Amino acid sequence: MNLAELGHTCVVGLGWGDEGKGKIVDLLTERFDAVVRYNGGANAGHTVAFGGETFALHLVPSGVLRENVIGVIGPGVALDPVTILEEIDALHARGITLGGDRPRLRISNRAHVVMPYHKLEDSLSESQLPADRRIGTTARGIGPCYADKMNRSTALRVGDLLDRDALCDRLAPILERKNKIFEALYGQRVAQSADELADAYHALGRRLESFICDTTELLHELAAAGNRLLFEGAHGVMLDIDHGTFPYVSSSSSALGVAAGAGVPHQFVKSFMGVIKAYATRVGEGPFPSELADETGQRIRDAGNEYGTTTRRPRRCGWFDAVAVRYAAKLSGVSSIALMHLDTLTGFERIGVCVGYRCGDRTLVTFPADVRDQRRIEPIIEYCKGWTRDLRGVRHMPQLPSAAWDYVERLEKLIGVPIGIVSVGPNREQTILAGR
Ligand code: IMP
Repeated sequence: MNLAELGHTCVVGLGWGDEGKGKIVDLLTERFDAVVRYNGGANAGHTVAFGGETFALHLVPSGVLRENVIGVIGPGVALDPVTILEEIDALHARGITLGGDRPRLRISNRAHVVMPYHKLEDSLSESQLPADRRIGTTARGIGPCYADKMNRSTALRVGDLLDRDALCDRLAPILERKNKIFEALYGQRVAQSADELADAYHALGRRLESFICDTTELLHELAAAGNRLLFEGAHGVMLDIDHGTFPYVSSSSSALGVAAGAGVPHQFVKSFMGVIKAYATRVGEGPFPSELADETGQRIRDAGNEYGTTTRRPRRCGWFDAVAVRYAAKLSGVSSIALMHLDTLTGFERIGVCVGYRCGDRTLVTFPADVRDQRRIEPIIEYCKGWTRDLRGVRHMPQLPSAAWDYVERLEKLIGVPIGIVSVGPNREQTILAGR
């Protein structure tokens, strides 16, 4: 594929998160001037290998590891000021400075703030649900923060952090209400008073002040000046609030939310690139039709180091689900796909692909909307021949063992979208541009 031809582009996860978007964004940013986060918050986790080091980022857009690239956190993000400052400081300690006269990180004054009581509520509300009703959230306060955003009167935006007294005035009734609810539901109160929270969060706001601006204006100015923008989504389409495996989803839109979350018109984004692993994973609860809750799943987990970047939870592993990926690709309008972790499947005698579902006496080839059907369906697995040769040194498609190439072609045919990139390891150079 020709990366040079990409206009403003959105990188979309086509699974349940953790698809490897961080590496693809990092790879593409060479050709872009700004990388924009538009949804989610510190629930996202991107692992990027760079200069012999590994960086785990949650809020800072992974593209900023390259000099000259501006990272933008748009209005649609749920921003935890504590986490982002930790990341800014950690990057600084490793020689990557984002502040200064011309900051390389910009945070929307319209983004919503994740407060300590959001994180508390996230954990408490999960712990009170019966085990089979838990969402399995990352406990980063994302759901409660977005709930307050929709509620409006109980929400705080990044711009609110900059005026201490106004912040305290807003916080007082919010805390009064939260405490009533927390006492009734969980028998406890928010640990801090409105004054304490106003002091602490105003101080955080002051530390972030040089990064805070109207990013909507900034993006439009950057684009008008000929800069190219890369939009980086958190989680994946299967965790989309409207289109994922509801209610076992995150609380924001994936690819379909890019315009609203970034503050740009829909036609602005010229291409959508899907990212998906050569097998399937999921963290947290919820339906996962092609899951392998057995030795094979464990073997994939070990080979792919499938443990969460954000929570270190072991990820559930399974075969590639072509029905779910086709659904996610169709929804997000991707014109090309990056297939990640192909190297992880080396050594499997045969590799399964879910090509349909059995639901009672019916066969489904589309993803069902209802969670009860999603739980009930049985995967129909087709097996492809495996390969034994280590793929980590492969740089061109013709160097792939024929079984690996056949596997890629089979997936491409099942999804109906060209696979433009194949990744065979965590480093930038372990990437094959399929060029077809
Ligand atoms: P929340 O986003 O923390 O509310 O979690 C809701 C669900 O989305 C849980 O199953 C999480 O594990 C999952 N989730 C949220 N963000 C990500 C991500 O970036 N990668 C993988 N799973 C995620």
